[in-house]
This record gives sequence, C-alpha cells and structure tokens, in this order.
Amino acid sequence: MTDASRIAVVGAGYVGLPTAAVLARFGHTVVCAERDDTRFGALAAGRVPVLEEGLAELVAEVVGNGSLRFVRSAAEAVHGARFVFLCVATPEAYDGAADLSFVQEVATEIASALEPGAIVVNKSTVPVGTALAVERITGATVVSNPEFLREGTAVRDSLRPDRVVVGADDRRAARQVGELFSETGAPLIVTDTVTAETIKYASNAFLATKLSFVNALAGLCESVGADVRDVVLGLGYDRRIGFDFLRPGPGWGGSCLPKDTAALVHIAESVGYDFALLRAAIAANEEARERVVRKVEEAAGGDLSGRTVGVWGLTFKAGTDDRRMSPAVDVTRRLADLGVSVRAYDPTVPPGPVPTDLADLEGMVLCADAYDACRGASAVALLTEWDEFRGLDFAKVADLMASPALVDARNLLDPAALRRAGFSYSGVGRP
Ligand code: UDX
Repeated sequence: MTDASRIAVVGAGYVGLPTAAVLARFGHTVVCAERDDTRFGALAAGRVPVLEEGLAELVAEVVGNGSLRFVRSAAEAVHGARFVFLCVATPEAYDGAADLSFVQEVATEIASALEPGAIVVNKSTVPVGTALAVERITGATVVSNPEFLREGTAVRDSLRPDRVVVGADDRRAARQVGELFSETGAPLIVTDTVTAETIKYASNAFLATKLSFVNALAGLCESVGADVRDVVLGLGYDRRIGFDFLRPGPGWGGSCLPKDTAALVHIAESVGYDFALLRAAIAANEEARERVVRKVEEAAGGDLSGRTVGVWGLTFKAGTDDRRMSPAVDVTRRLADLGVSVRAYDPTVPPGPVPTDLADLEGMVLCADAYDACRGASAVALLTEWDEFRGLDFAKVADLMASPALVDARNLLDPAALRRAGFSYSGVGRP
C-alpha cells in the first residue's frame, strides 16, 4: 500500500540530501537511502557529511519532528512510497558520455520492491532518453525532474528555485510530482521526459558558455588595457544579459558543468550534430586555466622549476568542500607538472596527509593556514574565492615569501593595497 505523501529519496549526496530535507520541510514524510557506510554512519549519528549552508540545521529539524529518516537500502526506502526520487551520481565516462551504471543499478534494485502505482522521479542528470530506460527496468511511470541547485547554496536554491521542471509522457504523473513542490511558489514547466532532460543540459551548457565568454573577455581586456570588472558592470545592466555568472576566474569546474557540457557534446555527436560552439566553450575553459599558470610563471620571474608556490584554495568554488573537477586543483596540478613545490591551504582541507584525490600531486604540502602556505614562496596563487583571504595581514604575507608576488585568479583582493604592501599583483582582466 502506498501512503499518498510518502516519498523515498535514493542517495544522500549533494543533491539527494538537500532534496530529502526540503521535501520533508514541505510537510511530506521522507525516507532517504544511503548505501555508503561512511555517509550513512554520519547521518545516523546526526551529522551531515557535506558542507552546505543551513543543511545541518534543516536536517536536524526534520529528523527531529519525524518527517525524515535514513535507511541503508533503496529497497527498504521505497517500501510504502508513492514517489521515489533517484538522486544518484552520473559521473563522466572515459568518452565524455554520462556513466549511467548507478542509475541502472538502483532501478534494478528497487524494481521488485516498488509499490503498485509508485512514480519514479529522476533527479540525476542523465542523457536524453534515460527515463524510458528506467521505465523499462522498473515497469513504473517515470518522471524526469532535473535539479538546478548549486553546491553551497543547496538549501536556499531548493526552497526557492527559479523554476520546477517535470517531464513525463504521463502528464498527470508529472503534475503530481510538480505539486510536491507547490510550496516553492516557483513556475512549473510540465513537458515530456526528453525535453525535461534536455533543459538540464541546456542550462548547464549555457552557464558554462557564459563563463567561458567572460573569461575569454578578461583575457582580451588584459591585452587592450580594459578593466573587465567595469565591462561586466556595463554588460550586466542590460537586462537581457544580467549580472549573474559573469565573474571571471580560473575557469569553471565542479561536479556538474564539466561533466554536463562533455555529455551534451557527446549526445550531439551521437545524433550527427557537431556542437562546435560548446566545444569552443570547453576549449576556452582550458585556456583560462592555462592563463593562470602563465601568470604565476611570470610572477615568479620566469622558470618555475624548483620554485615554491603558495596556493590559496583547492575547492572548485568557495562555500563547498567539493574538489571534483576543481579549476584550483587543475591549476595546482599544472604547476606541479612544471616542477613547482606546492604549499597549499584551503579552509576545508586539513593539514597533514594528502587526500587520495590529490595523491598524484607528489610533494605537495598541505598547510594549516594561508600564512604557512606562502612560506618561502616565489609567488602565491589565489585560486578559490574564500572570504578569509581578504582579511589577511599582507605585510606578514610579504615577509614570509621569498618575493612578494600575488596572482589573484578570482579578483578577490585590492590591487592598490597590495602594491602599497610591496606586492607585484596580477588579477584577471584588470589593467
Ligand atoms: C552548477 C549549476 O549552477 C547548477 O544549476 C547545477 O544544478 C549544478 O551545476 P555548481 O556546480 O554548484 O552548480 O556551481 P556554480 O555555482 O554554478 O559554479 C560553477 C563553476 O563556475 C565554479 O567553478 C565557479 O567558481 C564558476 N563561476 C561561477 C565563476 O567562475 N564565475 C561566476 O560568476 C560563477
């Protein structure tokens, strides 16, 4: 028997956990399945295993009032559930396609445990046409409900999304899923599954292209002597362009933009379309990263081999502990490949042994604070826009360095103040 409002969420990661917590907050009864032992252990002990503003508080609230609980198996979670949300990872396969093995595994696992009439809702970003495949495996009606939340602001984005998209061949099922989010007050787009799946890729590809545009523009500004910050100001007031997603940086990264752009290029290829525009945006992203490396080289006086470089920030952006496809890690890796001794500091990475995802960065020293990271350095590269870097004592930083040179890949700092403190300063797209 299904309970009219009982919801199962499979996967308690960056998407699943905020989704489960927010649905519980909207008054639904939610059971969330997490099969990873470490993650499950943390959740069962009342800890939230990802860094997300407001998530720990929200999870505590809804677990406390009995609207959210955690179980280990997906089959157990779907028992009695009317709606089953799939929130599992779809990593990038070797050829750029999305790796669907987790989605397929879960679909197979829950197939025999689903209640009659249960609706499977796919939130994982999957290639166009996957809903049909999940429908075939589970025998259930499948609704595609792409997720647009950003890491770091997941709770806010889920409580107040810009829009809710639901796609299904059975429009009534799609509407029912849409109604679960009625409290958000967001516009509801009801469409077919293929269109819903395409919307998700189109959004991320557009955002990536916008960022590649502004990063290329920043490169151009450096050559012509323009200030990209004022250029962006001039652009942003045009309502058709807007201010969002126009901050130049060391290139875009994270768990979604790189994977989804590669997947869309792959999807296009598979139907015989060469998405040259998107390929160019991806290539421009490589350029943006390489430009930071060249600046560090210049700041350190040329040859980097044997030099020490301080790195501030390793996560793909501030406000998250996620380092997947991080431009900061990529730039650090490129520096290490040039023979640099890296001293790195990130507020979310403890000093000491190097975590496994960074294990190839041989000899990298993880420091306890930003000061320690610049000890003996010929240059410091600020790669993630953590607020704490603004308030440093730069006279002290200069004293600790072999030569005070700063590459600010996020335009976070005040060049005039740094130059007064004796630094050579190089930002992005600033004269
Ligand atoms: C992104 C999408 O924004 C979200 O809608 C989707 O659901 C998942 O992918 P997220 O990966 O959390 O979210 O990060 P986002 O805040 O979008 O940033 C992506 C990358 O772009 C980061 O590397 C970030 O530093 C960079 N970025 C973003 C800029 O360089 N400048 C900006 O102005 C904005």
